[in-house]
Amino acid sequence: MAIDKNQGAQLNLIRKAQTAAIAAILAVGTLAVVAQDALTPPSTPEEAIAMRETVMKQNGGLLRSAGNLTGDEAVAAAQTILDNYTHMPELFPEGSEGGDALPAIWQNWEAFTAIIETGRTGAEAALTAAQAGDTAGYAAGLQTVMGTCGQCHQQFRS
Ligand code: HEC
Repeated sequence: MAIDKNQGAQLNLIRKAQTAAIAAILAVGTLAVVAQDALTPPSTPEEAIAMRETVMKQNGGLLRSAGNLTGDEAVAAAQTILDNYTHMPELFPEGSEGGDALPAIWQNWEAFTAIIETGRTGAEAALTAAQAGDTAGYAAGLQTVMGTCGQCHQQFRS
């Protein structure tokens, strides 16, 4: 499902494939390397690269299906995205140049972490809204998170 800004309001109306989406969330959950309050920081650059690439892919998978979710599933998806954004700076330790990460990250650390903070704030808003059953607020929070993907990749990913 391609998602653009105009579709934000429709996200929660799209229910088809919801069962498959929930199954995907559960499958992804078992692969999560970043659990709430339980991140073991990467101890080598190779480990940092592997962890952040896994987290990036998990976020992408979650965001593809998250708009279809409601109730507890929506809460769980928003919580995982929030955890991943909260821990994202730790997955880019100094000296972990490599993968597709550009040196610009460490040269412009404040700009890099400001984008992460925007995503973290969006995920937090999505979580709060999901907990309250506020579907429009949930969709808006997810839109904010999705806006950070391209914004960061453009500047900081080769
Ligand atoms: C703050 C910066 C930042 C944000 C925000 C961000 N990314 Fe990334 N992303 C990167 C960087 C840097 C890499 C390259 C990491 C590496 O190879 O070490 C990357 C890599 C990826 C990859 C490739 C992973 C792999 O296996 O090589 C995917 C997929 C991805 N991002 C998806 C997303 C999605 C989806 C979002 C939004 C929900 C997102 N990213 C948000 C910086 C970001």
